[in-house]
Amino acid sequence: MIKPDGVQRGLIAEIISRFEKKGFYLRGMKMMDVEQSLAERHYAEHVGKPFFPALVEYICSGPVVAMVWEGPNVVASGRKMIGATKPHESAPGTIRGDYALIMGRNLIHGSDGVDSAKREIALWFPEGLSQWQSCQN
Ligand code: CMP
Repeated sequence: MIKPDGVQRGLIAEIISRFEKKGFYLRGMKMMDVEQSLAERHYAEHVGKPFFPALVEYICSGPVVAMVWEGPNVVASGRKMIGATKPHESAPGTIRGDYALIMGRNLIHGSDGVDSAKREIALWFPEGLSQWQSCQN
């Protein structure tokens, strides 16, 4: 998910381009405003942490671009392409390493595992995805 700061900074195309050039297939995408309840369910594992209210407020502060990417090891590979959560720890060449400065504005969220990805796809795309598969399969 490209977070509100990624959208506001005009980085949508740059981020999508990195995933496409890597060879991943864009299986679903939508730009949307985020209801507080969706943000809270998405970040359920962080409920009760001190940064939770600000995190929810941030995700709801403007439109996001929710995406589903498909391809070999896309979850693990995508996490590497995104870079470490703390932008000052993210390597140059990663999205956060190249474009983000602070954790509270780290541009993009990527699922941290296949189970999380399945849960998050169901949450963000309750209507389901196109049945077309990548022509690379
Ligand atoms: P994300 O990859 O979306 O997953 C959880 C998010 O919580 C993370 O990116 C950060 O934006 C945010 N986050 C995690 N830890 C902290 C923290 N200590 N302070 C503020 N925000 C945090």
